[in-house]
Amino acid sequence: TWTMANLVEEQVAAIKEQIGDGQAICALSGGVDSAVAAALVQRAIGDRLTCVYVDHGMMRQGETEQVRNDFEAVFDTLDVVDASEQFLGKLAGVTDPETKRKIIGHEFINTFDEAQVRVFGELPAGATAFLVQGTLYPDVVESGGGAGTSNIKSHHNVGGLPDDMNMELVEPLRALFKDEVRAVGEQLGLPERMVWRQPFPGPGLGIRIIGAVTRERLDIVRHADAIAREEMTAAGLDRDIWQMPVVLLADVRSVGVQGDGRTYGHPIVLRPVTSEDAMTADWARLPYEVLEKISTRITNEVADVNRVTVDITSKPPGTIEWE
Ligand code: XMP
Repeated sequence: TWTMANLVEEQVAAIKEQIGDGQAICALSGGVDSAVAAALVQRAIGDRLTCVYVDHGMMRQGETEQVRNDFEAVFDTLDVVDASEQFLGKLAGVTDPETKRKIIGHEFINTFDEAQVRVFGELPAGATAFLVQGTLYPDVVESGGGAGTSNIKSHHNVGGLPDDMNMELVEPLRALFKDEVRAVGEQLGLPERMVWRQPFPGPGLGIRIIGAVTRERLDIVRHADAIAREEMTAAGLDRDIWQMPVVLLADVRSVGVQGDGRTYGHPIVLRPVTSEDAMTADWARLPYEVLEKISTRITNEVADVNRVTVDITSKPPGTIEWE
């Protein structure tokens, strides 16, 4: 009979088979998918796996430090790369969502390519290095990964590698849904915080700024997001929702009043959703007191934000993220 333990064993055997006596690096995003993919590969090939975490400058508050601490406890080799200058430079002035996604995807590949050279040195001719990714089944479907699939968004981590890149992909989660990935993570004994972390998109806060990405705008959305997450956790709601993107409408301003003065600031959108697998989603009916607390704090504490709105669109027709 089929069990999680069997599935893990099968995957580990398949990875051993694919990688042989080669070496691999894994792109850790901080999320459960790449963590579980890496843990499977580490089980298969041990310290021939190096994990690379790229800080692209669009992570949430305190996230890189938290990821470093959590992952150092699990993985033997972790390389944290600060590539924020590079990513933000390439994104300057770009407003089109798909263009942003493609630039970010491209920079991820460049950064890993550099990491590969650093980790492996010059590989002998004919030798292949492996790149581990936590691609899930819904990612494949939504990026247009094959027959009968759609093309809704270019996920940063789907779509293969350029031909001139001397690396082969290892994607052990390609057939799985998120709940199955979490079960595999538990089976592997990964810490609860890692396994139950809410999804966060690889392109990060860059696709939660509607408009061009700047450091100043990142600070605004990062601050608003930190407040929203703090209040959700304080209210004990983290496990009740799938995730809650916090979006900055950077090119929109509205008139407000604060103290004795007129303000002309940006709106923040809260996008709380419930979902099973992110293919469909419903807007989460959050308690009014929690929404009130978040709204009051964001408008009081975050500079340049004078309005908080809640997105009450299901998926479909809306996607979860705004870009
Ligand atoms: P959408 O917006 O397509 O999002 O309804 C579905 C789920 O996927 C997450 N998401 C991403 N995850 N790379 C990722 O790893 C991406 O490029 C990406 N884009 C969206 C999103 O947060 C939601 O959970």
